[in-house]
Formats: sequence, C-alpha cells, structure tokens
Amino acid sequence: MMNILAEKNILVGVTGGIAAYKSVDLCSKLVQTGANVQVLMSQTAQRFVSALTFGAITGREPITDLFQLYQGDKIGHVTLAHQAHLFIIAPLTAHTLALLAQGMADTPITATALSTTAPLLVAPAMETHMWEHPATQANIRTLAERGALVVGPEAGRLASGGLGMGRLSEPAMIIEQARILLARQGPLSGYRITITSGGTREWLDPVRYMGNRSSGKMGVALARVARDLGAHVNLVYGSMTVDPPVGVNQVKAMRAQDMLEATLALLPETDILISAAAIADFRPVVTYDTKLKKDSGAEIRLERTPDVLKAVGELRDRIGMPTLVVGFAAETSDLLANARSKMERKRLEMIVLNDVTATDAGFGVDTNRVTILTSDGGVESLPLMDKEDVAYHILHRARGLLGAQSIGWSPGIGSALP
Ligand code: CTP
Repeated sequence: MMNILAEKNILVGVTGGIAAYKSVDLCSKLVQTGANVQVLMSQTAQRFVSALTFGAITGREPITDLFQLYQGDKIGHVTLAHQAHLFIIAPLTAHTLALLAQGMADTPITATALSTTAPLLVAPAMETHMWEHPATQANIRTLAERGALVVGPEAGRLASGGLGMGRLSEPAMIIEQARILLARQGPLSGYRITITSGGTREWLDPVRYMGNRSSGKMGVALARVARDLGAHVNLVYGSMTVDPPVGVNQVKAMRAQDMLEATLALLPETDILISAAAIADFRPVVTYDTKLKKDSGAEIRLERTPDVLKAVGELRDRIGMPTLVVGFAAETSDLLANARSKMERKRLEMIVLNDVTATDAGFGVDTNRVTILTSDGGVESLPLMDKEDVAYHILHRARGLLGAQSIGWSPGIGSALP
C-alpha cells in the first residue's frame, strides 16, 4: 500500500514509563505501514518492556547502549541519526524530556536527538503533578519552540489509579500526527483542496430521514492522502461510518442544501474541489417539526435538491476558482458513456467512475475499483485497490492536470536503515 510512512526510516525512542507497553503496539503499527523501524531504549524502559519484544516486532535489535553500534569506522548513533526521516519518542518521561531540553547526550536517545536533523515527535506520559510541574512545562515549551511536535498527553486513568492529565496518546493518534509531520513540504504543499464526503440526510420529521449507503471512506481516504502530501484540506462531510481525519478542516453538512452552502463558501479558497459525497437528488417537500403519526398517511411528496456541482460551475464562471473540479459517478449501466456525459454536463476536468454493482468495491468497503476519465480524453482503469491507493492515483492525476510534475512521496535523506 502506498503511504507516506512506507520505506521511511523511523527511530522510536522508548523511555521508562508504564506506558512503554503501548510503544510495542506503536512499533507494530508502524512496521505494518512498511516503515523501517529502529527502536532505542533507555535503561529504565528496559525495566518495563524487554528489548527482545521490540526486536521481535521490528526485526531490528533495539539500541540500548551508546556504544552498541560503534564499529570502528562508524559511530552508530550518528549514522542512524543521518539516515532517519523521523524520530518519535514515546513515551517521553519527565526525566528524558529534561535531558533533551538541556541538550544532554549521554544516552542513545538523547545523543541521537542531538545528532539528527529529522523532525522530532514527542509523546509525553507521566503522572499529572510531574506533567504540571513548572520545570516540565518549561522543558516541553523549549522542545516545542525548537520545532518538536508534542502529541498529548491525554486526560484519563493513570497508572497510579487516579484520573488526570498524563496518559500517553493512543498509538493510532501518534501515527496520524507522524503522517502530518512528514507531510510538511510535501508535493501538494501550497494547494488548497476541498473534498465532500459521505451521504446526505434529508429529514422527513425529527426521527426519520432519507439517506444512502455511502460510508464516507473514499472521501476520508482522499482527505488523509491529500493531507499527507502536504495540502491544506477542507473536508465537508455528511453521514459517515468513519471519523474524519485529524489535521484537516472539518465542516459538517448533513443535507444537500448544507453541502451546497458549505462548498460554495469554501470555493474562493479552493484550488481543487473533489465531490465524493453521495448527495441526495430528492428531499421531502415538507419537513415536519413533530414525529409523523401512522394515520397521517403513507404518501411522501419529494422535490429536487440543489445540484452542488452545477452551482459550483456557475460560481466558478464568476470567480475563477477552483482551478480543477473532480466529480464521482456511481453507475450501474453504460458505465463509461454515462460517466463521460456526466463529466461534460457538470463541466468537470475529471470524473471517477465507480461500478456500484460490484460487492468488493464502492459502498461501505475499504477497497475500490475505479476508472478515471479526464476531459482531455484520458481513460485510466485501475485494478481493485485500497481506497487510500485510489486516492493517491486521483490526486496524482489532478496534480498532473494542473501542469505540475508528478507526485512523489516527499524525498527523504539518506538510505534505508541497516
Ligand atoms: N452531485 C452533486 N449534487 C447532487 C448530486 C450529486 O453535486 N445533488 C455530485 C456528486 O458528488 C458526484 C456527481 O455529482 O460527484 C455525480 O453524482 P451522481 O449521483 O452519480 O450523479 P447525479 O447528478 O445524481 O446524476 P444521475 O442521478 O442522473 O446519475
């Protein structure tokens, strides 16, 4: 799977706190993304989790001693530091935080932190009073001012049994933030992309609505990948079975009318609009304030909703934004011909055709099989793939249409870890 973490050299520093066990999960998830993960452990971390566990998960022996990698000609931590694309320290204890703030270098983690130019992500975890102590707060500010990304801590149950601030952020959140950190300077940085996602709900009364099967997974994949490539992303979303990603501007819009208003408001600051939402074509003529009773009859009168892309086309004629509009076409017959005429009718530069009759693609699943049609006559049929990979292809094509060179994941420094 294509993702911004694949093939990246990621150093994970583990310091001595009870949350060190969560770092095992973090490393496992990072390895699953295809990243090369090298763990560095403090002495106290090894009292909580063994180096063997991390070694088995990452396939690389953790570094526990400053001189472990010394091989006569090369100084281990310096080589590692130069090859790293990202340095994560999770959990970060108050003690190691203080060492980092002071620029100390007597442990593998602190020496590597001083020697690397890779971005630093720290996820502190400690007892509430330690976290709130002015010394700790001053130290974390120092790190943030030097450019480190501080993730967490979160409020919740602590090892002491009490409730308070100090829990390590969840591994999935640390990975999302790592993706955002790596996205800085990405190939789509400077672009503003607005994506509509999910299904709409048209209310009949306070408890009933007309909806559709859209899960929002394709729109969320587009938002996440666009964010990872460095774009500023607006996600206008209706009903979804997945959460909108962090690091994007989230705008909730449940009805077709809400989608219309939210999308038009964002157009003056949008370079690329991607309309992935399944927007209702009809809505009840009347929305009742109170729940309808059985005896009020079985007939519901419907009327047309606004066509968002049509309105986008009209506003675009006046303001010249967005530069590129991408639509989706969910078709069940005459796929190519229908999609092509939809692209022309809605005046799109690109349309992504979904065959919604397939069970392994489209609604609700993580994979999709699409054909990308462009207004210059291009047709690209992609095999069944993960929705994030589909998103990558769409964004790659969009950038190509803007006349920019193709997207490569942000180039890293150095080569793979030993
Ligand atoms: N769309 C829109 N406004 C609507 C309905 C759809 O902007 N009221 C957008 C969708 O987000 C999608 C594209 O138009 O990008 C095509 O959606 P689709 O439902 O396939 O097309 P319709 O215009 O509804 O055409 P038809 O029902 O005739 O197939």
